[in-house]
Order: sequence, then C-alpha cells, then structure tokens
Amino acid sequence: MQWQSSIAQTLQWSGEIVNREAKQQATVAIAGKVSNGDVIGVGSGSTVFLSLQAIARRVQDEDLQITGIPTSYEVALACTALGIPTTSLLEAKPDWAFDGADEVDPNHNLIKGRGGALFKEKILMVSSPKTYIVVDKSKLVHTLGQKFPIPVEVYPLSVHYVESRLIQLGAFEVKLRLAQSKDGPVITEAGNFILDARFANVASDLEGRIKGITGVLESGLFQGYNVEIITT
Ligand code: 5RP
Repeated sequence: MQWQSSIAQTLQWSGEIVNREAKQQATVAIAGKVSNGDVIGVGSGSTVFLSLQAIARRVQDEDLQITGIPTSYEVALACTALGIPTTSLLEAKPDWAFDGADEVDPNHNLIKGRGGALFKEKILMVSSPKTYIVVDKSKLVHTLGQKFPIPVEVYPLSVHYVESRLIQLGAFEVKLRLAQSKDGPVITEAGNFILDARFANVASDLEGRIKGITGVLESGLFQGYNVEIITT
C-alpha cells in the first residue's frame, strides 16, 4: 500500500536551485546510463534532485524497473514522489551510483558536503563499483578549497577538540555550520555536527589526516576515488 498524502506525492526542493539550467543539461547523460533492473546509489543535492527527475522520465517512458539507495531524507522523499522504490546498503550493493559535488579539480578530487550528507555519500561511493559525479562547469576548479571550505562531520561532543586539531593541521578558519530553519547547529543526515574548515593549501594526504582525528566521522574531501565526471 502507498501513502496518499501530499508530502508523499509532492516533489519538493528547499529553496532556489543555483545554475538550474546548466545542471539540468548535465542530467541528460546520467539518465542515459540507466538499465532495466539496476540498483542505483543516489547521492544528494540539487543536481541529483534534477537527475532523479530525468531518470524517472526514462523509467516511465520505457517501463524500466530500478531501485534507488538514497543518501539523505531529501532524495529519499524525491524517490518516493517520483515512484522510484528505495532500499539501503544493508539490503543491496549498488550497480553504480551518481552524485553531485561542490568542487572538482583536474585530477577528479572533490569537495562535497554542502548538503550535510557527506558521511553517507562517502559510504555509498566506496560501496559502488562506479560513481558518476554530475556537475555544471562552475564546479570545476584548478585547486580544491578555492570557493568551498572542507566540511568535516564530527561527533557532537568532540566539536571543540576537533576544531583545535584542524587548526593544528593548518586550517585558518573553522566554523560550526549553523542551521537556517532551526536554532543552533546543522544536524547531518547521520546525526552529527559539521565544522567547515578552510585550508590555504589542500595537501594530497589531507583527507587521511583529517580522518585520523578522534571524533571525526568523515570529511567532504574525496581524494583519489574512482569517479567519472559528467559535465555540460
Ligand atoms: C551534498 C553534496 C552535493 O552533492 C553538493 O553539495 C552539490 O550540490 P548541488 O548539486 O546542489 O550543487 O555533496 O552533501
């Protein structure tokens, strides 16, 4: 039986989608990757949200059966509204996955996590044999950290300790991410806090060094992962 409520049936995105047209163009290629029977890992963010709509159109037009593994409530709700059944990494391994990014460097290293789903997004990426990163051209940078800080997901009680260790690692600014429609900090998809850390120089081993701090669950720095970039 399915929910007949308006929340279950309405596709909703929180706020305006920046660079909507360019993102929309990039979604065409990802919809073309879908095959009947695929279990697809679904990242998070507005590009993923638009990609899901392109995928749902193909599914409907060609009567395909697919299953999504969502990384956030945001995309889980979108899958429900679009009629795409979902499962989790407990039940299934993805055939492939797709996601967005905030920055992509020439070696395909990434900064992700603006949406607060970085921990689940990284688990999905390492669980999937192939991940497509769908971005508009504004995300392509020469060196990481030019526009976005590196989000660091921390166990809430470790926030002060991790802040001090990030500064020791060379961060020149560390900010606790605060919520927009809630008082206090953003709570991630996995129930933690986020520290947004700015580094003047993102060394090639920085992801591992951040991960080595006790209290850090994950960072939004993705260095050396098996990803294929899809852009317009
Ligand atoms: C969410 C993410 C997103 O993929 C990233 O922020 C890109 O978002 P958008 O497609 O809205 O620009 O990492 O945690």
